[in-house]
Amino acid sequence: MRPAASAPAPVLRLASVDSTQAVVFALAEGGAPDRTVVLADHQTAGRGRRGRRWVAAPGTSLLVSILVRPARLPALSLATGVAVAEALAQVGGVPARLKWPNDVLVRGRKIAGILVEVRAGVEPVAAVGIGVNLAQETFPPPLAASATSLRLEVGRTPDRDRVLDAVLGAFDAWRGRLAAEGLPPVLARWRALADTLGRTVTVDGLTGRAVDLDEDGALLIDTPAGRRRVMAGELQVG
Ligand code: BTN
Repeated sequence: MRPAASAPAPVLRLASVDSTQAVVFALAEGGAPDRTVVLADHQTAGRGRRGRRWVAAPGTSLLVSILVRPARLPALSLATGVAVAEALAQVGGVPARLKWPNDVLVRGRKIAGILVEVRAGVEPVAAVGIGVNLAQETFPPPLAASATSLRLEVGRTPDRDRVLDAVLGAFDAWRGRLAAEGLPPVLARWRALADTLGRTVTVDGLTGRAVDLDEDGALLIDTPAGRRRVMAGELQVG
């Protein structure tokens, strides 16, 4: 008899934490299983990409981290971007697009951010962190022109658990496809949702036209000096 497929680990719901990423890594050290999910109402030290902070007033956002073990899947961050964009389109009815590598935009404004962190060890583990702006009606000056929320886009705040279910469902599906089929379907879907391709971009001082993703997910940029591959970096349009 084949063993029954194991049910996903339950969602750990917390009021206030420093960072759901830190909680996931602490749980991983204690042996928590793959796909442990940590959800918080508020973070006092939310982490963004490239060492930035991720700040959200209590109760305004979906703040969630997912433990992935072992952390050997390539392109997990691109696949997560695809999953979050699809989930927001499904549950919020918004035209979500992707800015390389994995910012989720609506009408050119950021609605969700994704941070994939890996801890090395005998068995490396990853924490896939997702922050979705749900209820914000305004953003502070540095973000006012570049951020949005589901409330601002559709005129009402969606139920957080419905968004969580949609995000986890899409994440499980795309992670499964990545494991079973490799990168090609993820890259194809990413291209179809891309906001970045065809635009003039600057990534860490390199300026040119973003033309495609390479087979490993690197961004291909045509510059006056020829085609360049960018594996990581901060992308600005223009
Ligand atoms: C980015 O800079 O765009 C990535 C932001 C990721 C934020 C999420 S919120 C839940 C999880 N916990 C964190 O501390 N960060 C991620």
